[in-house]
Amino acid sequence: MIFSCGDNEPYEAVPVSEDPLEDTVATDIALTLEIPDYFPDLTYDLSQNPPTQNGFVLGKKLFYDGRLASDGVVSCGFCHIQAFAFTHHTHITSHGVDGAIGKRNAQPLHNLAFMEDFTWDGAADHLDAQPIIPITTEVEMNNTFSNIVATLSQDPEYVDMFAAAFDNGQIDPDNILKALSQFMLMMVSADSKYDRYLRNDGTTLTAEETAGLGLFEAKCSSCHAGMLQTDQTYRNNGLSIDPEFNDLGRFRVTGQPSDSLKFKVPSLRNIEATFPYMHDGRLPDLEAVLDHYANGITDSPTLDPLLRNEDGSLGIPLTALEKAQIIAFLKTLTDDNFIFDERFAEF
Ligand code: HEC
Ligand code: HEC
Repeated sequence: MIFSCGDNEPYEAVPVSEDPLEDTVATDIALTLEIPDYFPDLTYDLSQNPPTQNGFVLGKKLFYDGRLASDGVVSCGFCHIQAFAFTHHTHITSHGVDGAIGKRNAQPLHNLAFMEDFTWDGAADHLDAQPIIPITTEVEMNNTFSNIVATLSQDPEYVDMFAAAFDNGQIDPDNILKALSQFMLMMVSADSKYDRYLRNDGTTLTAEETAGLGLFEAKCSSCHAGMLQTDQTYRNNGLSIDPEFNDLGRFRVTGQPSDSLKFKVPSLRNIEATFPYMHDGRLPDLEAVLDHYANGITDSPTLDPLLRNEDGSLGIPLTALEKAQIIAFLKTLTDDNFIFDERFAEF
């Protein structure tokens, strides 16, 4: 079973059905992540948790199962909605159990196999560890692993699926996290218009998109670097501190004053679908993002030096035409084949 994402060939899909047990196979099959050669190196060590058909289907069932939360409702998929590249859309910051409001905007889930650490401040340094945060956070899923293990162990379907996915067949935190990772690792988004252009399959960019790409490379790619548009560092891009949440970002993790107000440089893949923008979702659309860089930069001791100009002004000067061109380029990063890929859709 190969997940192809190149050569214009359709995905050789995992069977998709209403019932996850039907997708579970008697003899498990290894899944391959097909990755374009222009992508960065994998950061996830697949040998420690090789994705298989049965692990993937189990991970998908867990991802969409509200019983992972204390209220039986708030699944991972509740906040990470596929149509919006797995972000939460109706709320600026995410809602958890009992309508509790978190302070951050849900991040998209795609190309996680290439990330060095996770969340806006890098609080998790391994994909397998990341879900512990939402599962146990009061304003998210507000649950405990012993509670989840007890619930799943009473469900015969899960008993069969864990047995089919893992040699030891156990329903335990380790296998729950590994299955979730197998599902998320397969979420490679590499079939946008920009990818097809890079693969030279005859796709061309319009004059506006080409101008936008040039501007992006000149003005944005020192931080939004490489094919995933992130150098994976933490930086202060000049947002004013939010009086409501007082979120100091990376400082929370390192305790270093020099990390105050720094957040992870996000990948911009599928950016058209992941509005609203920034760690707290304060900017409603891409126009507002470009206005922020051009005219909205707030000074502070940790403001990124790249946003300070020699004449003492702050930000990235952009004309209205240049903003429109950059936005046209950013929209070439939308990968509809990923956003509507049935393999990742809720059962
Ligand atoms: C209540 C809403 C909510 C729920 C439920 C939720 N998440 Fe998230 N997720 C978020 C938010 C908000 C962030 C950003 C967190 C931060 O920066 O502190 C995030 C970040 C992540 C990231 C990091 C992405 C990156 O690029 O670094 C992963 C992976 C993830 N979630 C997976 C999951 C999984 C798996 C589950 C289910 C076990 C889950 N989430 C449940 C809201 C949610
Ligand atoms: C100095 C480094 C830097 C530069 C230069 C920069 N960015 Fe950013 N960008 C960031 C950081 C850091 C964030 C996340 C900030 C936050 O949420 O607190 C971000 C966030 C964004 C977001 C929101 C992403 C999301 O998922 O919410 C967009 C869109 C964006 N930048 C586009 C651009 C464009 C277009 C340019 C060039 C005009 C640019 N950036 C230049 C560092 C930079």
